Amino acid sequence: MFGNLDFSDTKVVVELGSGKGVFTHEILKLIGPECKLLAFEVNKPFCDKLKSEIQDDRVIIINDSAEHFGKYLNQYQFEKADHIISSLPLALFSLELKESILQNATHFLNDMGHFLQFQYVPFDYIRLKKHFGNVKLRFSTLNFPPAFVYRCML
Ligand SMILES: C[S@@+](CC[C@H](N)C(=O)[O-])C[C@H]1O[C@@H](n2cnc3c(N)ncnc32)[C@H](O)[C@@H]1O
Repeated sequence: MFGNLDFSDTKVVVELGSGKGVFTHEILKLIGPECKLLAFEVNKPFCDKLKSEIQDDRVIIINDSAEHFGKYLNQYQFEKADHIISSLPLALFSLELKESILQNATHFLNDMGHFLQFQYVPFDYIRLKKHFGNVKLRFSTLNFPPAFVYRCML
C-alpha cells in the first residue's frame, strides 16, 4: 500500500486518521527502532482501542484533529515529518478543513518527504496539485475495498 516509500532514515512519520489501526500496524513494521509514529484520530474509542492494542514505544496516539498535527510535532521536538500518511475522508471535509490540513501538510513535510492520501473517490487531484509540486495518482486493488492513492511531494 505504501509503494516503495523509503523509511530507512525516517525520524518521524505522521499518520492522519488512524481509525482501527490497519495502517498503523503496517507502518510500525516498516519504520526503524528509533523512529516515532504520531498517529492522529478524532474518534476517542478508536484511540483507546489502539492504545490498548499497541504496546510499542515508537507510537504516540493523539486524540485530536488532523489540522493540529504540526503543534504536536513541535511539542515532541520534531521540526518536520519525514512522511505523512493520511486515510482521512478528505472528500467529505469542508473546504476550510481540507485547506487547513493540506496547508499544514506542506508546511510540516520534509523537503524529500511524501504525503500519501488514500481515498475511495478520485476527487481531490486538482486540490492536491494546488499544494504539492508533484502528485501521482494510482488505484490500488491491494486495499480492501480498492482505493485511490495519491502520492505527493513538495
Ligand atoms: C477511512 S478511516 C481510516 C481507516 C484506517 N486506515 C484504519 O486502518 O482503520 C478514516 C478515519 O479518519 C478519522 N477522522 C475523520 N476526521 C478526522 C480528523 N479531522 N482528524 C483525524 N482523524 C479524523 C475517522 O474517525 C476515521 O477513523
